Amino acid sequence: MGRILIKNARIVNEKSVFVGSLLICGDTIVDIIPKGKSLPPTVDYTVDARYMYLFPGIIDDHVHFREPGLTHKATMASESAAAAADGITTIFDMPNTIPPTTSINHLQDKYDIAAENCLVNHSFYFGATGNNLHLIENLDPGSVCGVKVFMGSSTGDMLLDDKELLIRLFKTSPVPIAAHCEDSSIINANLAKYKTLLQGEEPDITCHPLIRSAEACYRSSALAIELAHQTDARLHILHVSTAKELELFQDSPPDDKLITAEVSPAHLMFHQDYYKTLGSRIKCNPAIKSKDDREALRNSLKSNKIDVVGTDHAPHLLNEKIGGSISAASGMPILPYSLPSLLELHSLGYISLTEIVQKMCHNPAIIFNIEKRGFIRKGYKADLVLVQEKEEVKTVSSSDITNLCGWTPFEGMKFKWSVQQTWVNGNRIYNDGEISKKHKGEKITFVR
Ligand code: DOR
Ligand code: ZN
Repeated sequence: MGRILIKNARIVNEKSVFVGSLLICGDTIVDIIPKGKSLPPTVDYTVDARYMYLFPGIIDDHVHFREPGLTHKATMASESAAAAADGITTIFDMPNTIPPTTSINHLQDKYDIAAENCLVNHSFYFGATGNNLHLIENLDPGSVCGVKVFMGSSTGDMLLDDKELLIRLFKTSPVPIAAHCEDSSIINANLAKYKTLLQGEEPDITCHPLIRSAEACYRSSALAIELAHQTDARLHILHVSTAKELELFQDSPPDDKLITAEVSPAHLMFHQDYYKTLGSRIKCNPAIKSKDDREALRNSLKSNKIDVVGTDHAPHLLNEKIGGSISAASGMPILPYSLPSLLELHSLGYISLTEIVQKMCHNPAIIFNIEKRGFIRKGYKADLVLVQEKEEVKTVSSSDITNLCGWTPFEGMKFKWSVQQTWVNGNRIYNDGEISKKHKGEKITFVR
């Protein structure tokens, strides 16, 4: 498109909101022009962004795009389109695919699939197992976002909870370690208790947060943090789901600490009472907990205890979500409603627009050392999102869902905010309901 001007937007960036215009040349932001200053006399294309807010593109550090091996649930093509419709311009995908991303060849296969199909920028976590730590030690820190360790078992059987192996991993990983924390011994003991109580019958979905309990989360997160302190590891705790875990985190910006934390929209939007209406649709690991937990997580958005909002988009088909605490699949599709969810929380007073940008754009870039993205700055990549608060409230309907799995836990919820446009590397890939598939995203590089 050449030289593009996004004109008169309310730019939200680096703790400030101001009206201005942005000049993009090719894939790069070349000028940020505050209102009142003269605009370039000639450009190839102008976007009138009056009434819209302009954010840096969202960097989602946590998705499960299911490819390879689980393409009946989702594909890189289908889910990256949903990401684009959610204002997400970069995704980091999890390793619990089939085969799991636990070898260099399997990692390369994912990059090859993404180069052909992924509409947004991307990187892939390498999955830690008991016997691939030598591969992790030799990962290229410039090209892999991080290592994922399941310190609690979940979809995909990738549990690693041997303390000696964890210490070795924490000591030697050249990239950040992203941890799923739920203590398996506590979960198994709770499960055994319920099986005895119910004489072998499956506990129903309301038991899920009692089996995968708050204590299981706290114990495992506390252990991960203890090991990270011992080893000086760069640790990122994923999907914090309880009030008690918040006690474990330092209230300071991510550049000042080695241990950071992520929260997911599911734990911010739902609580235990929703099992009555949504049943196992909202079954996920860690489980959706009490209303008090949700309130504590919401209130933590204003602090630096929670550094990142990552979606944990984990689609399954509805027929895989049938059953109770054991048999229903864990995980739910979040895209394309993560940014609208956070914007609704903004309207409710839980988070400011600059804090949304901090936790969804700036902090992921800082924590993972992403090169030239995550901020609106001259010389940075033109990854951008335009959002708008509408007059009329929109009710989410399953007929709007283009994801392969065909459903959303947000069905029936009302959103005032909508994502209007998403720009990736200077290309507009989402515009008011329309996806453009002409351009593919890039492999992310890291400065470490
Ligand atoms: O609920 C979950 N679903 N938790 C996980 O850890 C994995 C995810 C999935 O892949 O479905
Ligand atoms: Zn996940």
